[in-house]
Amino acid sequence: MKTVSLEAMCKKAFENGYAVGQFNINNLEWTKAVLQTAQEMNSPVILGVSEGAGKYMTGFKTVATMVDSMIESLNITVPVALHLDHGTYEGTFKAIEAGFSSVMFDGSKYPIDENIAKTQEFVALTKKLGLSMEAEVGAIGGEEDGVLGMGELADPDECQRIAGLGVTILAAGIGNIHGVYPANWQGLNFKVLADIKKKVDNKPLVLHGGTGIPDEMVKKAIALGVAKINVNTECQLVFAAAVRKYIEAGKDREGKGYDPRKLLAPGVEAIKQTVREKMILFGSVDKA
Ligand code: 13P
Repeated sequence: MKTVSLEAMCKKAFENGYAVGQFNINNLEWTKAVLQTAQEMNSPVILGVSEGAGKYMTGFKTVATMVDSMIESLNITVPVALHLDHGTYEGTFKAIEAGFSSVMFDGSKYPIDENIAKTQEFVALTKKLGLSMEAEVGAIGGEEDGVLGMGELADPDECQRIAGLGVTILAAGIGNIHGVYPANWQGLNFKVLADIKKKVDNKPLVLHGGTGIPDEMVKKAIALGVAKINVNTECQLVFAAAVRKYIEAGKDREGKGYDPRKLLAPGVEAIKQTVREKMILFGSVDKA
């Protein structure tokens, strides 16, 4: 089986009140860990690739080829989408050309009319090719009422305009932030999420910044229409902590403990455990 569009898996999630996890990949170990865990949990999965990670892995073509080969060699039968994360205008074309099954064009930095025009272009192209497409709506401010520690909030009317273009799924700021949340974070803004949901006519939504959001907030966001949740930093943190523990315990100096396959193994196990926990929290287990 090859990678698939995320349309069917996210539609099913949206209609049945759960979310599919997007786990960003950085290298072979990451990819293998996420794919094996998805298979073990019988869960659909989205492999997210940022432009930086794509470049690190020597290009989108390498990534697409590696993922396709791994699906075959590991006998992965659960649905897997290979998705460009926060694509630029040029990068989105490149990922499509390289064979990604799904792309996010992030036009949120553009004025809304330009975001709409560019998003429209990718909607037409991805529909023609049978791929899925995520769009993002810009923020109305990184702080609200002068309160710091609040992520960006999207304008529900702009969400309505972008959702109406026929995108598969829509990312919109509801106070979420990429990376580790600051101590004074105000939490997700469910009022904005509910307002967006009302305006986007049953379009599934994406929650970015999935690292460190309290479980109850995640569940509430899913209940309000979030069908895809992105997790990146949390896997990086647990990977680094596990490899650090191995080295600090001197295990790389015991026998052939320096072998990268041994050295990185605790990190890989830590990623698997995090992905398992997220799949359980998001409700995607046994939904393949
Ligand atoms: P975190 O790194 O905060 O988990 O966010 C991931 C993400 O949203 C990728 O688009």
